[in-house]
Amino acid sequence: MATPELAIIPRHVAIIMDGNGRWANKRGLPRTVGHSKGMEAVRETVKAAGEAGVEYLTLFAFSSENWSRPEAEVNDLMGLLRRFIRRDLAELHHSNVRIRIIGDRVKLRGDLLPLLLEAEETTRNNTALTLVIAFNYGSRDEIVRATVSLAKDVRAGLLDPEAIDAAMICGRLDTADIPDPDLIIRTSGEERLSNFLLWQAAYSEFLFIPEYWPDFDKQLFFQALKVYASRDRRFGAVSATPTAVVG
Ligand code: IPE
Ligand code: IPE
Ligand code: MG
Repeated sequence: MATPELAIIPRHVAIIMDGNGRWANKRGLPRTVGHSKGMEAVRETVKAAGEAGVEYLTLFAFSSENWSRPEAEVNDLMGLLRRFIRRDLAELHHSNVRIRIIGDRVKLRGDLLPLLLEAEETTRNNTALTLVIAFNYGSRDEIVRATVSLAKDVRAGLLDPEAIDAAMICGRLDTADIPDPDLIIRTSGEERLSNFLLWQAAYSEFLFIPEYWPDFDKQLFFQALKVYASRDRRFGAVSATPTAVVG
């Protein structure tokens, strides 16, 4: 549970789970082993987020650009998500976890889409952690889809273009019912967003850590929460707790 040190718990933590391939390479193993090991880190992180009292945990599992990887790796990543839902859905449901999927569902093959819909449907009334899985997700793609949907309403005479504001755009994004992330963590030492939550990250705190995703665990999660608690979020205003000015 929250310790006094963790008095400020982020409501929404989003994670760019990166470094599975390099974790495997370093050990002379195929990339697929890194992805499987990464799944264990997912399980541990979901538990840690629940324990900490985080309300939303978003995990970037497959980007709209990841289709450019070799077909075998793409199939491997699809298979891992399929297995995760099949094996873990009952336990997640039992733990009162609500599952939400963001990303473009149209391109998903075979039984994956019905499985994801089943996971959302089964857990829709759960009230503990909301686990948001970003799958076939790309922020630009999401913004394009939102724009097309607004343009269609304008053409149909349902919407005055002058009435379009930020809240309306938020309402058309995949994350319409999800608050913006307070903290975005990226593992593996890369310091970029790679098309993740570009709109939603307007005032997020960022934390880039060197560990590869398969090595991520509860301890690193709680360390990240501690760093977050020490940040001063100003949202364009002045600090609520000003520090002494020297000089
Ligand atoms: C993250 O690890 C998993 C996905 C992007 C799906 P990577 O597969 O990107 O691993 P690296 O970055 O090549 O080490
Ligand atoms: C971002 O990682 C996507 C996911 C974690 C799912 P990538 O490994 O695809 O990003 P780049 O290519 O290094 O920017
Ligand atoms: Mg990567």
